[in-house]
Amino acid sequence: MTFQTTPEIGRFITFEGGEGVGKSTQLARLAEHLRECGFEVVTTREPGGTPKAERLRNFLLSGRAAPLGPLAEAALFSAARADHVESLIAPALNRGAWVLCDRFADSTRAYQGARGGVDAKTLALLERAAVGETRPDLTIVLDLPAHEGLARAASRRDGGDEVDRFESEKPDFHEELRQAFLDIAESESERCCVIDAARSVDDVARAVRAFVHDRFLAHAAQAAQ
Ligand code: TMP
Repeated sequence: MTFQTTPEIGRFITFEGGEGVGKSTQLARLAEHLRECGFEVVTTREPGGTPKAERLRNFLLSGRAAPLGPLAEAALFSAARADHVESLIAPALNRGAWVLCDRFADSTRAYQGARGGVDAKTLALLERAAVGETRPDLTIVLDLPAHEGLARAASRRDGGDEVDRFESEKPDFHEELRQAFLDIAESESERCCVIDAARSVDDVARAVRAFVHDRFLAHAAQAAQ
């Protein structure tokens, strides 16, 4: 289906969840679908998405920032985010593209906040400084029991990737993270949608698509008829 009308401004959709829940796969599936509908789609990820932010990604995921503590890590994730928003996300949205981002500020709230113990006020200040008005229109939280996500992440690594800074944390850490994402989704239910990621890739992709259509495209489809 090709849409004749494009939104005046682009839509910003983020994918969140613990390790191995399938964010990258589902983001790619949604991007493919939206392109088939005729939209310009920019896919990106955090930490990263720009050359400067990718350098910070390498530093953070290597674990070299860990001894500095969660507050320093939150500041570094936010510094990467500020560059990402300013150089890539905001310009894409301003020209009417859809931006699909693998993780965003909710990951800082969950990993450095709920799990790392950085207080919510400090994180809110960092978040405002990094993102300004560029906040997600929709956040898809993919939900999966932590042990299943970790098993998927481990099987993905059969290709040789090393365990990163956060994957190597204990199982309790990951179960608490799952709850942290669910709590964020509950407290901002207008923005967030929780999708059960235990189903097949195709079923989850269908659920994501249905949600995006209901939220953003149903009226455009009617207008195009
Ligand atoms: P991933 O995108 O491959 O899952 O790797 C990113 C890792 O960084 C993941 O373990 C979550 C973590 N992370 C944070 O701790 N805080 C953040 O703000 C972001 C964006 C990611």
